[in-house]
Amino acid sequence: GIDRFNKMEPKQVPSVLILPLPAQGHVSSMLKLAELLCLAGLHVTFLNTEQNHQRLVKFTDASSRFTKFPAFRFETLPDIPSDIQNPENLIKEMFAGIDRVIKPAFRELLISGREKAEEWPPVTCIIADGVMSFTIDVAKEFGIPNIAFRTISAACFWAYLCIPKLIQEDELPFKDGDLNKQITCVPGMESFLRRRDLPSFLQAKEFSDPSIQIVHTQSSKSMSSSAFILNSIEELENPMPSHIGTLACAKVYTIGPLSALLSSKKNTTSSTSLRAVDKSCLTWLDSQQLKSVLYVSFGSIAVVTAEQLLEFWYGIVNSGKPFLWVMRPDSIIGERQIPEELMLATKERGCMVDWSPQEEVLEHSSIGGFLTHSGWNSTLEAITAGAPMLCWPYFADQQINSRYVDAVWKIGLDMKDMCERSIIERMVRDLMEDRKDEFMKSSEKIANMVRSCVEEGGSSYRNFERLVEDISSMSL
Ligand code: UDX
Repeated sequence: GIDRFNKMEPKQVPSVLILPLPAQGHVSSMLKLAELLCLAGLHVTFLNTEQNHQRLVKFTDASSRFTKFPAFRFETLPDIPSDIQNPENLIKEMFAGIDRVIKPAFRELLISGREKAEEWPPVTCIIADGVMSFTIDVAKEFGIPNIAFRTISAACFWAYLCIPKLIQEDELPFKDGDLNKQITCVPGMESFLRRRDLPSFLQAKEFSDPSIQIVHTQSSKSMSSSAFILNSIEELENPMPSHIGTLACAKVYTIGPLSALLSSKKNTTSSTSLRAVDKSCLTWLDSQQLKSVLYVSFGSIAVVTAEQLLEFWYGIVNSGKPFLWVMRPDSIIGERQIPEELMLATKERGCMVDWSPQEEVLEHSSIGGFLTHSGWNSTLEAITAGAPMLCWPYFADQQINSRYVDAVWKIGLDMKDMCERSIIERMVRDLMEDRKDEFMKSSEKIANMVRSCVEEGGSSYRNFERLVEDISSMSL
């Protein structure tokens, strides 16, 4: 509790600096971690880029929500370019911007923090997004620990850490086009991992591919962090968390789903949206039958071509299911807006919004299925809500997430990169009609397990308590 720190000398007060990659899926989970650490009584500084901070303040109650914590403050860093319409470029551009802009500003902030110690307790621990591994060198320079927070699953992180092994076993880069070839050298995944299930950055044609280089460099650099925080659930991902800890000789705190852990400690939802949320869809959902609606959303980065959009649209309409579809205005390659005839026809069959209150949507009783791109936050939210998934992974960690949903947890179907209307129709019917009871039962079972692991005595609850203790006593 908070009183424990009041007795401590001001210089000893644990003061955490949190730095997410400036992207929705990363800001979401790390802001929830910030709120959890505030509730535990720690001093927290949350670093966002200027633009993302303005969006957060504009579209959520973040400014009021956080001002009630005396030991919380936002600080902002300069913006970096991110061209969403070209995700491959996005990665390269983002990392160039991080080195050029974010790194010097981050270091500057730590230096000035030391000089103004009487205003705010100097930082005693950095919790940085695992892809911002430059903070490790800066942490060493200031003699403080650096904890790497991964916004992806333990399985995906473990696959990244196995890159040297994959190369040594001649599995990377792919020698031919057989994507169904089994991958047997990633410990713990021997029985179900195929080439096509590896994170997309590893499915490169040659090893010099920049995205494979970035992932390899970031993951191996992050190995020298003092500890790791995983937004995941031990019971769902064992033995990956312990493999990671063993390989890195460091502590691993598996404390997810952060959304569920946070709502188990406070009764209101905590929006982290960087876009305007259209809540009208909740009223539309109220008018729908129990577990009858297909919710469609591909996260904040994935884009589709106009052709793919039509395949999805006809497949979903021909499935006969009412649907709630998130159509981010920037999500169709080459188009500035949704085709008009699509908008009109959709009105009768479903509801379309630019951006939904997704966590509330997934918890709504009329949701019977979730057509998702398998982003890790969306996957955790569906697991927590017990919503069966139809997975259309786009890039990054999504390929391995979709494989786990289908082949390991058996709470949905993995479409992979297929996008053809008759297959889409058949898989929607499979998920929400033919095998509905099977998927509802397995999803409900896992949702109950998740609920218990974030309640007192559960694995994530206990690991979070241990994290707060260790940060406070610096015994990382
Ligand atoms: C990115 C990567 O794509 C993903 O693979 C990685 O795991 C995290 O970073 P993103 O693509 O945005 O994330 O997907 P996801 O991880 O699912 O995060 C999206 C977040 O936006 C979720 O928390 C979801 O609840 C929220 N969301 C999405 C909304 O609030 N409204 C929407 O309409 C859609």
